Amino acid sequence: MKKIKTKLDGCCIYIGYPLERIGEKLKDKKFGEKVFILTDKNVSRIYGKVVEESIKRAGKEVFLFEIEPGEGSKSFENSYRIIKECSKFGMERIDTIVSLGGGVVTDIGGFVSSIYLRGINSVYVPTTLLAQVDAAIGGKTGVNLPWGKNLIGSFYQPNFIYIDFETLSTLPHSEIIQGLAEVIKYGVIKDEEFFEFLEKFDYESIRKRYNYIIEKSIKIKIGIVEKDEKEEGLREILNFGHTLGHAIEISNLGKYNHGEAVALGMVGETYLSCEMGICKKDVLKRIINVLKKYHLPYDLRKVKIMDIGEFMDYDKKRRFGKLRFVLPERIGKVRRGVEIDKDFIVKKWKEIDKLWID
Ligand SMILES: NC(=O)c1ccc[n+]([C@@H]2O[C@H](COP(=O)([O-])OP(=O)(O)OC[C@H]3O[C@@H](n4cnc5c(N)ncnc54)[C@H](O)[C@@H]3O)[C@@H](O)[C@H]2O)c1
Ligand SMILES: [Zn+2]
Repeated sequence: MKKIKTKLDGCCIYIGYPLERIGEKLKDKKFGEKVFILTDKNVSRIYGKVVEESIKRAGKEVFLFEIEPGEGSKSFENSYRIIKECSKFGMERIDTIVSLGGGVVTDIGGFVSSIYLRGINSVYVPTTLLAQVDAAIGGKTGVNLPWGKNLIGSFYQPNFIYIDFETLSTLPHSEIIQGLAEVIKYGVIKDEEFFEFLEKFDYESIRKRYNYIIEKSIKIKIGIVEKDEKEEGLREILNFGHTLGHAIEISNLGKYNHGEAVALGMVGETYLSCEMGICKKDVLKRIINVLKKYHLPYDLRKVKIMDIGEFMDYDKKRRFGKLRFVLPERIGKVRRGVEIDKDFIVKKWKEIDKLWID
């Protein structure tokens, strides 16, 4: 069990704490008398009761509200429904919303916490690897609109984040690898030693080391966000793999989940970096090897990008009409704000068979 303190509005992170003891952290009067647990139906079925009971034992009045699992629930309509339930439950500004679930739940729960009564107490209990290492960390909240993801949101730090690794034991393989893609990303952008650690293990053997990789990933992300909370500069490096990743995710309609698309995006962006003389081929080789070890896709030759340019036009990281990339210089160091011409990418994509290393 470990407590990590941050400079982000006093948000702290409890890692390796059991769910059944979360109530102890909410006992204090400053969390109010009422606790609204927001969760999704899958998570509620497995962990709803234990969290609810623990918070009740702390003397709070508890209301548990379930949304449907999945990205579709991260909507403006659902935010309104949640706010309505908070009002009916009589939540006041001093009371607390506990978001129990994956990134969908923490994103919408955080968003509602930030706007209901101009901001009430917010606590995250992330239960997916992706949420534990990424979505719940850093204070970005958001919901989707029918024409785009995360188009409404806020920067709002939760009071604390409470992580129980045991929740990962019920998480399906496809969800685990989504989180692992972001974990690998942290090694590439910021920490060669951490990357070497990941090189030493593999999908099976890393399970016993979740505590280490989660703590390390959180520290890397927090370190970056503390320097650039509002996404004005450095935070951009967290987008490594994501510019191409988004294009791959959208253009292959459902074939790759976010983590898989980011894995392929990291390969593609590193390949571009090599072609531009920014990094050596060895970097690409090492990234491909690690992705293989963690059951993530890496073979770009199998990826269809019908019209890369068209998909990237919608990318919100585009500034002044140019495509901006974060490219590795070596493992542990990236260069941000690299502008690349669409035509160059399309040309390189066509040559990929010839240049492929494995
Ligand atoms: N705010 C940020 O900075 C940030 C960063 C990255 C991603 N995100 C957001 O996070 C979301 C994705 O999060 P996610 O990958 O956690 O998806 P998710 O919340 O949809 O969870 C994935 C699935 O796993 C189930 N699940 C959750 N915990 C479980 C457990 N312990 N055991 C069994 N099943 C469990 C859920 O019910 C769901 O079906 C996206 O909406 C994305 O935009 C936000
Ligand atoms: Zn991501």
